[in-house]
Amino acid sequence: MELTLPLLQEKLKEWNGCALSRNAKPVLGEGNPNAAVMFIGEAPGEKEDELGRPFVGAAGKFLDELIASIGWKRSQVYISNVVKYRPPQNRDPTPEEKEQCMPWLKLEIALIKPKVIVPLGRHSLGHFFTKMSISTAHGNAQKLTHSTGSGQTDDVTIFPIYHPAAALHNGNLRQALFDDFQNLKKHLEERGIAP
Ligand code: URA
Repeated sequence: MELTLPLLQEKLKEWNGCALSRNAKPVLGEGNPNAAVMFIGEAPGEKEDELGRPFVGAAGKFLDELIASIGWKRSQVYISNVVKYRPPQNRDPTPEEKEQCMPWLKLEIALIKPKVIVPLGRHSLGHFFTKMSISTAHGNAQKLTHSTGSGQTDDVTIFPIYHPAAALHNGNLRQALFDDFQNLKKHLEERGIAP
């Protein structure tokens, strides 16, 4: 059977390969299945766990605002997370939890085939570049050649940005996020990638 996003959603519901799945709902990504731009956060929070959808709490509202600030809509992009379950008390996901959930993110990327991936924050950036720091990498495009399976490789642009939740605790980051989204807009326009 051909793998699709709805099928992936069903398979995730049956999966128990991550200890977090005992106490939390699965939260797969959502959005445009043909999106050119894919945003990837860290892990679901309380609201996301309640509704089973990514970025629907306070950080999600700010992300919607940032996306709107460059003339795009949430429905035109795809939004997901590295970890598919809420860690207790929103603690950082462990390296083991990130590793266990990694195949789901890889499958989502393989299905969406985005031109630009925007990791939000250090956990997501670390999925693509293990040694890069978000404080130096944010707001700039990086090229990544990645394996698409069966010996094939593909190029994708990684455009890291701070996690929107960070700006909810640190007001100075709010402007940095808006500035980074303007850089992202410029990058997309230069490449002719339109909403
Ligand atoms: N923070 C994340 O990293 N992901 C969500 O889905 C919500 C908040």
